[in-house]
Order: sequence, then C-alpha cells, then structure tokens
Amino acid sequence: MRVTMIGSGYVGLVSGACFADFGHEVTCVDTDAAKIEGLKNGVMPIYEPGLDDLVARNVEAGRLTFTTDLGPAVKDAAAVFIAVGTPSRRGDGHADLTYVYEAARQIAKAVDGYTVVVDKSTVPVGTGDEVARIIKETRPDADVSVASNPEFLREGNAIGDFKRPDRIVVGVEDERAKDVMEELYRPLYLNVAPLVFTGRRTAELIKYAANAFLATKITFINEIADLCEKAGANVQEVARGIGLDGRIGSKFLHAGPGFGGSCFPKDTRALVRTGRDFGTPIKIVEMVEEVNEARKLAMAERIKDALGGDLSGKTVGVLGLAFKPNTDDMREAPSLAIIPALEAAGAKVKAYDPESMAQAKPHLPNVAYVDDAYSAIDGADALVILTEWDQFRALDLTRVKSLLKSPVVVDLRNVYRKEDMIERGFQYQGVGIG
Ligand code: UDX
Repeated sequence: MRVTMIGSGYVGLVSGACFADFGHEVTCVDTDAAKIEGLKNGVMPIYEPGLDDLVARNVEAGRLTFTTDLGPAVKDAAAVFIAVGTPSRRGDGHADLTYVYEAARQIAKAVDGYTVVVDKSTVPVGTGDEVARIIKETRPDADVSVASNPEFLREGNAIGDFKRPDRIVVGVEDERAKDVMEELYRPLYLNVAPLVFTGRRTAELIKYAANAFLATKITFINEIADLCEKAGANVQEVARGIGLDGRIGSKFLHAGPGFGGSCFPKDTRALVRTGRDFGTPIKIVEMVEEVNEARKLAMAERIKDALGGDLSGKTVGVLGLAFKPNTDDMREAPSLAIIPALEAAGAKVKAYDPESMAQAKPHLPNVAYVDDAYSAIDGADALVILTEWDQFRALDLTRVKSLLKSPVVVDLRNVYRKEDMIERGFQYQGVGIG
C-alpha cells in the first residue's frame, strides 16, 4: 500500500519507517529542506535508538523515500497521514492547529482518487471534522475520508512501541476508511495488537485521556513520595505494593522530579482547555498540571536544603538534562526549571548528559557543559541526578566521593539505594525514601 506521511518529526518519521519495514511503500514529506536532505543521506534529525538502521534498510530496499514536494507524494497514496506538530499555543494552552490545517489544505489540492486522510498528530476532539470541512471547501470534488489514528509511542522506545503496541486506535466515520485502515495495519494486528475502531471524535479523545491519565498516575505517586519522606515510608515499596493490584498496574509509578517531555505537559494543558470550552472542567487534570509545575521548583529547593540552605558560591554537578533517558529531547525537561532556579539562588552548575547537551545549551546558557559524568562531579559541592541514564547507575562511587567537595547526593530518579549510599558515607537523598 502507498502511504504518505506529512511531517517527518518523531511520530511521522518513526511511523513512516516502521510502515515501510512492514512492506508498505512510504514517502515522508517535510517542509524543512535541510532535514529531508539529511534523511536522504542517512542523517537522523533526532536521537532515537535503532532509527538510523531502520531508515537505512528501508531506503535501500526502495520502500522509503523523502521529499519536500507534497503534491506528487499525496497524489498516488491510498492513505495520507498528518503527523505535524501541535505545540501549545502561547497564552491559552490550547493546541496550535495551524500546521494541521495547512497540511489539510495542501493535501486537498493534491489528492487524486479515493484517499484516506489520517490524522496522527495529537489534536483536540473535533479537529477531524474541521479537517474534513477544509478539504471539502478547498476541493469540493475530492473523494476523501478523514480518520483519526492517535500514536502512543514513547520517545527512546519508539520503534518497539510502534511495532508492538498495546493497541491501535482508529476513529472512522465510514466503512471505506475502515477497510483501508484495516489493510494498512494488517501486519500489526496479525501480530496480536488489538485494533480498536471507534468514531473519530472518540479516537481523538482517547489520546488525551490516555496521556492525562498517565500524567495523573505519575503526579499521584509523586505526592505519595512527599508523604513517604515525612512519614518514614518508602515510595518504591508503596508503588510495588499498590502496583501488584491488577486494577492499578505497576507501570508509571516511579516518583521523580515531575513529568516533562513533548507530550504530557502540552496534552494535559490542551485537555484542560477543551474541558473548559465544553463547560465540563476536568478538575483532576487541572490539579495535575499545577502540582507538576510546582514540583519542579520544589526540587530546586530540595537541592538548596541539602546544601545547608545557601547556594551562593556553591557548585552543583548535574547528571542528566533530557526529560528522560534515551532521548536528546529537552522539551519541558524538569532540568529547564530546576537549573535556572539553582542559578538564581547563586549556584554554578556543571552538567553532563550523554545526548542532549547541544539541545540544552541555548536554554541553559550559563551551565558549564562537560564531557563525562566524573568531570561534572569534580570539585562540586553536590551531585544531582536529574535523568536516569543507565550509564549513571554504575558509577564508581568511591571515585565519585573523592571527586566531590562534600559528599552530598540528591538523586531525583532513585537510581541508587539509600542504605548503600549512607554506608559509603554520602549524605544521600532520594525521592520518597523516608
Ligand atoms: C508519552 C506517552 O508515554 C506516550 O504514550 C505518548 O505517545 C507520548 O507521551 P514520552 O513523552 O516519550 O511518551 O515519555 P514517557 O516515557 O511517557 O515519560 C514522560 C515523562 O514522565 C518523563 O519526564 C518521565 O521521566 C516521566 N515519568 C514517567 C515519571 O516521572 N515516572 C514514571 O513512572 C514514568
């Protein structure tokens, strides 16, 4: 089947490369000529494990091509995916749909014969209706169905998540579109992923409900972590104790510095706006947003307290800047709130992240970036772990202790065990370990 992806960002590129790997003929389109040129030469615009090999083998097999020229790519496709960005709109937190609607207009001009236009970008409920209206307005004769197919892949595990999803959600309003989508996803559902068909509006809402629920779960355990610290309990054991109940589930119960990334913050904000627009405020998600923002700043206070309440003239060695491991993505990373707060309180920050330092620099210009974990610690008054990269889990702790000016460790991802660290003579603080 011929498939076209409009937008070669995280979702578009990964989905396109994976569809090609299943045997479809895929064209990835992007307006960014430098990105497309890079992709043609095997240069990935993002760091995602395994993506370069996946792209290379499908390009070589002739199933995956890249172009800036939308028209011809859309003309022959049976399914055209809209996978462009939907960032938060400045000011009101709504999802900015400019790129989605522009893609719809361009697609309408180029379609030829029956085509399913599939919205894969995360968009508020009702966007599919507007996409359908725009297409009809631009090309009254176009033979098009509009479907919604939200993507649930996680950065850092994107290929695995796409190829072996827990479920595939497809919102359609007619049988013809359903048949095309079924054919497209045949290789995956025969691989046992349930294909869930719903109405278009429902599919759009499923994506927001899923992300808001996960964000709520994280925020819940973060607040329980605060209580554990005061009450002398252990949040990791609480998470295990509740997570074994199948109704709760053990995933997304790791306490930490607050969630970040390209999805949860923007999607919770957008859902809050949608709820208010419809006169049905989703109060629990409003609270999640508020608690999570406050948490990031509270983490800076915690670091300050660990250093005796005064950061002036102190150096903090930070390990990890990205919003989570295995990505170079800095979007809404907790480090972007925590580090400026430390600096404002008078601290100097030295930092190391295996992948995201180039991305971090423009946002955190005063940080001294170093080439490895030990250099970040060297001469620092405290070690702070902000992202749980695997390579930080087995640091030589004797060396760490000898490099630090004072043996203070604030581990905001619980990569070490408190008893071990205390035994080694560190003044150690995890999250939720009372
Ligand atoms: C998320 C969703 O998981 C994915 O389904 C959706 O398609 C896009 O948004 P992603 O943003 O890549 O994916 O990251 P994820 O692994 O979900 O982590 C999001 C944030 O939550 C990170 O900052 C992470 O550190 C934090 N988190 C996650 C926790 O603090 N604790 C947890 O238990 C899990």
